[in-house]
Amino acid sequence: MKEHLIIFDTTLRDGEQSPGASMTKEEKLRIARQLERMRVDVIEAGFAAASPGDFEAVRAVAEAIKESTVCSLARANEADIERAAEAIRPAKRQRIHTFIATSPIHMEKKLRMTPDEVVAQAVEAVRFARRFTDDVEFSAEDAGRSELDFLCRIFEAVIEAGATTLNVPDTVGYTLPHEYAEKIRRLIERVPNSDKAIWSVHCHNDLGLAVANSLAAVLAGARQVECTINGLGERAGNAALEEIVMAVRTRQDAFPCDTRIDATQIVPTSKLVSTITGFPVQPNKAIVGANAFAHESGIHQDGVLKHRETYEIMRAEDVGWTANKIVLGKHSGRRAFRARLEELGIEIGSEEQLNQAFARFKDLADKKHEIFDEDLFALMAEEPTPSEQERIRLVSTMIHSETGEPPHAKLTLAIDGKEYSTEADGSGPVDAAFKAIEALVHSGAELVLYSVNAITQGTDAQGEVTVRLSKGGRIVNGLGADTDIIVASIKAYINALNKLQHDAVRINPQL
Ligand code: KIV
Ligand code: ZN
Repeated sequence: MKEHLIIFDTTLRDGEQSPGASMTKEEKLRIARQLERMRVDVIEAGFAAASPGDFEAVRAVAEAIKESTVCSLARANEADIERAAEAIRPAKRQRIHTFIATSPIHMEKKLRMTPDEVVAQAVEAVRFARRFTDDVEFSAEDAGRSELDFLCRIFEAVIEAGATTLNVPDTVGYTLPHEYAEKIRRLIERVPNSDKAIWSVHCHNDLGLAVANSLAAVLAGARQVECTINGLGERAGNAALEEIVMAVRTRQDAFPCDTRIDATQIVPTSKLVSTITGFPVQPNKAIVGANAFAHESGIHQDGVLKHRETYEIMRAEDVGWTANKIVLGKHSGRRAFRARLEELGIEIGSEEQLNQAFARFKDLADKKHEIFDEDLFALMAEEPTPSEQERIRLVSTMIHSETGEPPHAKLTLAIDGKEYSTEADGSGPVDAAFKAIEALVHSGAELVLYSVNAITQGTDAQGEVTVRLSKGGRIVNGLGADTDIIVASIKAYINALNKLQHDAVRINPQL
């Protein structure tokens, strides 16, 4: 009987700390529901004390999620822990994750605390957190560069105080796999009450070693891995969930444990996170990259055709890849549409949302005869923001682009239900369209990213556009998909403006 390896997903907390990856509450909820569908054990939904928005998002996840444990991060102080406890209260299974730094450099230069003070604060924090829940995780921040003797001391003390999970983060991605494994092995051996808690690992990818370090630690006895979808996270990111799960599953000969993840949900989850954050997945990324299962060389293709296992160690369908096949068309009905969404594991939401999505599907099917699974993912990712937040809506566009003439865009937008026309020239049609929108709304937001991606092959493919806007320290991603990439771009820009919300829109009185 294999032991259970706990998968703790921190896409919504550490993943969101990636510059430009900030998500709205609704987006976090969609990701959380998908993580639950994938059977993640623990969802770290955020850092409740960081801001009212973070608190609301953790709270919303705690209200919605029934199967996975919902966790909030908290610094080792009463105010943070109370806030975390309040945010996760509606959850069926709740965890508070409290942390304090333990490396000499962090204690001396950042905290300006002595090691004795750090131990005392950690113990108090864990005791306090136990008043709210029996499930308390303690992290020794920068454990990768902390002294072993000090780690033994603080971990023994926090287990005594009631911590049930002990996390050993390689916060700055500095350690090498053999060192990290040795650290975990020695901690488990030397901490006298080490069997009273689960040992957890949390690795950053600064040297490209996050997954290797996490797996080495599992072989050394860790039974929880903290990771993110697509390896999203601060700087170079965190350990990628999909790589951890599939390495452990594929190499069951080497690992004494396995996860309970439904691997067929990996690709849909990766696509959802990539679409929402606007962070594309590199084609050669393990498991979830577009080329991860593509064989280009003739020798490989020949081998795979003769016997699949000559060059394939995993099956694409086992991680949720579906053949790029035509699934629906113009004559498909609502029932077929719904059935395919269910087969793909795409969340449908309410009947009203299904009707809206079906209407968008019919529009698309009019423009594009063959609808692929990828089109459905994009269509559902485009789910409109709640109507009270959708202040701006595209009504119509007219774009003029002719050799020797400056491209010109003329748009009609509805703002708070009233229609306005606006126009502008630009260096290209997209530039002209964005300038026309700004001439009307004066958001003052800075465009920090614009990217276009063809969803499927062929010239009738939908273009999926991400627009990242920044204003007053807030960064939002807008998404749009359409067979016309100018329209997709306009939709993405408007989607981003709607997320920046009310303060972003000052209507030009001249218009
Ligand atoms: O990297 C880190 O140390 C963290 C902790 C807060 C767990 O994210
Ligand atoms: Zn981290």
